[in-house]
Amino acid sequence: MTEKNIALITGGASGIGLATAQALTASGSQVFIADIQDDLGREVAQSLDGEFVKLDVSSEADWNAAIQTVEEKAGRLDVLVNNAGIGAGGTLESTTLEDFNRTLSVNLTGVFLGCKAAVPLMQKSGGGSIINISSIFGIVADELSLAYTASKGGVRSMTKAIALDCAARKTGVRVNSVHPGFVQTPLVENGVSAMPAEMAEAYGARTVGQTPMGRIGEPSEIGDVIAFLASDASRFMTGSEIVIDGGFSAR
Ligand SMILES: NC(=O)c1ccc[n+]([C@@H]2O[C@H](COP(=O)([O-])OP(=O)(O)OC[C@H]3O[C@@H](n4cnc5c(N)ncnc54)[C@H](O)[C@@H]3O)[C@@H](O)[C@H]2O)c1
Repeated sequence: MTEKNIALITGGASGIGLATAQALTASGSQVFIADIQDDLGREVAQSLDGEFVKLDVSSEADWNAAIQTVEEKAGRLDVLVNNAGIGAGGTLESTTLEDFNRTLSVNLTGVFLGCKAAVPLMQKSGGGSIINISSIFGIVADELSLAYTASKGGVRSMTKAIALDCAARKTGVRVNSVHPGFVQTPLVENGVSAMPAEMAEAYGARTVGQTPMGRIGEPSEIGDVIAFLASDASRFMTGSEIVIDGGFSAR
């Protein structure tokens, strides 16, 4: 890798993606913020001396255009963080096929398309690191978020399949997954504010109450670990998963 890594972060305008972009910038990378939120994305990119690319991760055409933009502007790609995701509550009974397909198209198909579009450029750049953001609900289940759990379980196992494929083809690209527990971001805040008061209270009690460390996480506590996976310090890691959840899934 060169001294200045080029990193693309999907969903980089907010929450964990924003904290990741900050951590990668602090460790010397140039970042491309890829998001559907134009104004916020541009603002974040500007504040980090990076670039903004408009990208809907569920669109293959958008991915091809975004990777082409990175190649034209930076000439290489060293790090891809597939972070964009949407939360979706709903049980087996209440989840419609439409909800299910929408959740999978962003959270799972988006990661597939990102890896597919980026690996050739990363290989051409001499290798690199892909970090796919799953969730603790890619490891243990949440019956109240059926589609979300399905999408994040898919990200966990697909990450390992892509890691094996990239290793077998000697691409030099490592692929790992990160599994955050409950983290204070707009995704969680908007989800909670949309709930009836009683449910919001129960949700708060559950997230904090069931987290052995007794609090929910800060986005930077995820971003720092992602920056480790992006760096050469993790150079022998591929197909691995890192849980960052204050102990939630240890029981
Ligand atoms: N916050 C948590 O507690 C938590 C826990 C585990 C996993 N995660 C995962 O972390 C990731 C980031 O979540 P967050 O909490 O920071 O959420 P967030 O809502 O703060 O940020 C998500 C970002 O993704 C962008 N985005 C949404 N759909 C997109 C699309 N189709 N194409 C491109 N960008 C899109 C949004 O505009 C937003 O900027 C998600 O994959 C989420 O599932 C979050």
